[in-house]
Amino acid sequence: MDKIKITGGRQLCGEVDISGAKNAALPLIASSILVKGKICFTNVPDLMDITSIRLLLEDLGATCKASKNYLEVDGSSINKIEAEYDLVRKMRASILVLCPLVARFGHAKVSLPGGCAIGARPVNMHLAGLEALGASIKIDHGYIEAKASRLIGNDIYFDMPTVTGTENLMMAASLAKGTSVLRNAAREPEIVALADALNKMGAKIKGAGTTIITIEGVKTLSPVDIKIIPDRIETGTFMVAAAATGGDILIKGCEPDHIGGIINKLKSTGTIVKSFTDSIRIISNKPIKSVDIKTLPYPGFPTDMQAQFMTLMTIANGNSVIHESIFENRFIHANELLRMGANISISSGNVAMVRGVKKLQAAQVMASDLRASASLVIAGLVADGTTIISRIYHMDRGYEAIEKKFSLLGAKIERIS
Ligand code: EPZ
Repeated sequence: MDKIKITGGRQLCGEVDISGAKNAALPLIASSILVKGKICFTNVPDLMDITSIRLLLEDLGATCKASKNYLEVDGSSINKIEAEYDLVRKMRASILVLCPLVARFGHAKVSLPGGCAIGARPVNMHLAGLEALGASIKIDHGYIEAKASRLIGNDIYFDMPTVTGTENLMMAASLAKGTSVLRNAAREPEIVALADALNKMGAKIKGAGTTIITIEGVKTLSPVDIKIIPDRIETGTFMVAAAATGGDILIKGCEPDHIGGIINKLKSTGTIVKSFTDSIRIISNKPIKSVDIKTLPYPGFPTDMQAQFMTLMTIANGNSVIHESIFENRFIHANELLRMGANISISSGNVAMVRGVKKLQAAQVMASDLRASASLVIAGLVADGTTIISRIYHMDRGYEAIEKKFSLLGAKIERIS
């Protein structure tokens, strides 16, 4: 199994290019199930999760062609409506094929995604929404079976904003008979990107990016070419890394409008952040001030940046309270940071008190989930000595060539087997 080896203490300087967003690509690739014809995706990130969803679509009968940062999917040949356990267990976001399959074929069997390290990750809101559109849902032997001769538009109210729930039901409602309204919808940029693509295909969606999305169902959708938007979490990860190591980096090919919550908090630490049309400059030449954060649905501070920001706070001046309000178990990285000399105490499961220390110490640590692995890379970049991170397959799911990108910025980092 590969590991990452980092010798800390170097400042990051230079330029880095941001890849396409994993969490935009996954629902967009799933939407190819809705149309008979070929969709060409560009700026596709080269990630394990993208391979996983391609393999799932191929197993359903779609014809795919993949090359570096490019993917072609032709859904015309889909002849199977069952997403099998072995494929779904590799990636929870496989749930995103459920609604497109029901919308197009009137039937779907998708393995119930299990939980993951960060929480139980139920899909009850996806299923309740699908039922509201007239589908009959059965859970049997670990599979969700959904049937509907034709989905019928309806009002759907989410108990709390759900990103993939909003995406799934937007896709279902696009081919339903009549109008649907999603209320308390999630507002992430990835949802706006999906709505834009569906509208290019002929859907009639209004309000994406707000809490109320109105979808007027249409009979069919047509294939279009789609460019994946930049990854706002990869952008935030490099911003926080530069703040932690000190230095001066230019992050290119990003979307500053998508990361206001991150910019706001990073500026409060004393880090200089300069935004341009499609790039951001980070200059860190002063001690880091500690700030409190609470993760919230977009446009609040993203939960996917909490682990990375915690690492920054471990070497800040003062104390920081970190409140993780989205997932019930998203502090696993704290245990590994403690082994590197951080001073963190966790009370009541989702509030952590981080007391800044002068230096982290290099150590052998283990990644537990995608964003936890990024927080450990940042810790290794600032720690005294050589850090070895194991189980980095978690990182390969969501960060394209991250060690190459960091070494181009001057870090001493390499992948070892
Ligand atoms: C998406 O997951 C992202 N994944 C996650 O990114 C991200 O952390 C999360 O949104 C929150 O922003 C993709 O987009 C592929 P949710 P998702 O439904 O849609 C609860 C990463 O690191 N909930 O918005 O699964 C849920 O348990 C990943 O890239 C229900 O209770 O998250 C959570 O507490 C990790 N019932 C909250 O809602 C449901 O039916 C928000 O979850 C659905 C969700």
